[in-house]
Amino acid sequence: MAKKLCVVGLGYIGLPTAVMFANHGLQVHGVDVNEHAVNLIKNKQLHIEENGLQERLEEAVDKGLFTVSTTPEEADVFIIAVPSPINNDKTANLNYVREATKSIVPYVRKGNLVILESTVPPRTVEDVMLPVLKETGLAFGTELFVSHSPERVIPGKVFEELVNNDRIVGGINEESSRLTVELYKVFVKGNIHVTDATTAEMVKVIENTYRDVNIAFANELAKISEKLGVNAWEAIKLANYHPRVNIHLPGPGVGGHCIAVDPWFLTELQPELAKIISLSRQTNDSMPEYTALKAKSILDAKGIQHGRVAVLGLAFKGNIDDMRESPSTDVLAHLDKLNVDYTAFDPHIKENKIEKQTQDLEEAVTHADLILILTDHNEFKEMLPSAVEDKMRTKAIFDTKNCIQRDAWKKAGFDVVLLGDSKVSTI
Ligand SMILES: NC(=O)c1ccc[n+]([C@@H]2O[C@H](COP(=O)([O-])OP(=O)(O)OC[C@H]3O[C@@H](n4cnc5c(N)ncnc54)[C@H](O)[C@@H]3O)[C@@H](O)[C@H]2O)c1
Repeated sequence: MAKKLCVVGLGYIGLPTAVMFANHGLQVHGVDVNEHAVNLIKNKQLHIEENGLQERLEEAVDKGLFTVSTTPEEADVFIIAVPSPINNDKTANLNYVREATKSIVPYVRKGNLVILESTVPPRTVEDVMLPVLKETGLAFGTELFVSHSPERVIPGKVFEELVNNDRIVGGINEESSRLTVELYKVFVKGNIHVTDATTAEMVKVIENTYRDVNIAFANELAKISEKLGVNAWEAIKLANYHPRVNIHLPGPGVGGHCIAVDPWFLTELQPELAKIISLSRQTNDSMPEYTALKAKSILDAKGIQHGRVAVLGLAFKGNIDDMRESPSTDVLAHLDKLNVDYTAFDPHIKENKIEKQTQDLEEAVTHADLILILTDHNEFKEMLPSAVEDKMRTKAIFDTKNCIQRDAWKKAGFDVVLLGDSKVSTI
């Protein structure tokens, strides 16, 4: 049974994981190259938001079970949870995984286990990590054990899902898997399914790819529905009453560092075969431009030449503060290209991350000719026309998430436009 862990990468995944093991009595050393993050954590402060993390971090540090620094230490088990983004050309950037693996080599000893938690293209453990770990001089599978155990948690509910989600463990051999299962059993209550490392990598990537393809289908249905005079949301909702149908929802694009990224891993590995996958990526990537064009056409239809749009929502999904790969950034770029003026507001993005951003809803809607909803934050779901109507120049709202209280907006005399529905609803 492992006594000491070294967790490399203390972000949204690594920090909660490290703290969770420490809360279950293991001695954990956390490592991050970001000195600022390390200093904050040392002082029991957070550089990321996650429900329950603050209390758990305090408990772990106060009990002396969690230390942090910018360099690894010797341990029984090393867990790597560093980023695995894509480059501008949509190829996988495995430099973080490679560098993190290199950084532990001097500390790895006979009998240790190394687990990769980052989401990676299939064969990364075999082709990227093992060649680096070879420098330890240890024999794989007998002296050094290696596995992949991808993380499936959702931000905001990490501690609940770390415990209750089923987990996949893929070792380079049976003993690697067995040791990995034994470790996670410390807190995992879900089932732990064992396979090989490459299959485990594939499993995580196809989970996100499935969701991306399904969303692309919904986005295609939204476009088709607009041509046919059907409300796509209603059609999808009714279709999903079929016991074996589960169509996802359309929107202004797909963001985040998972669903918008991982399908490219398969496209890069097998470009000739990954046809539906790459078409789905293209479909989802086409939605920001589609959204911007539709916003402009709403202004054009009203004869508004130099219209102003109040863009509400910058985060890639509702009720979070994460703008990574957010489609809203692309929507804004397309509005710029179309010479449509805008001011953006997001109550969850507390610092101005883009030029035409305000921290004030009133400022965003003042003299606006259109409200464009890009994120289904609760604040926008609950928003009533009375909060904005006096400030606006034209009463129009374009909802890309089907989240507003449509009847209230219609009653207040707004033109209400819904993505995936060609009808402009007025009272
Ligand atoms: N965040 C999620 O919801 C989520 C869910 C499932 C899987 N994942 C996957 O988990 C992995 C980590 O994601 P994340 O969201 O925690 O990323 P993150 O950016 O929040 O954290 C990664 C941390 O690793 C650090 N780092 C980078 N290189 C390092 C190195 N060589 N040594 C030490 N630290 C290093 C960074 O400074 C950063 O703090 C990614 O592969 C991601 O796809 C994330």
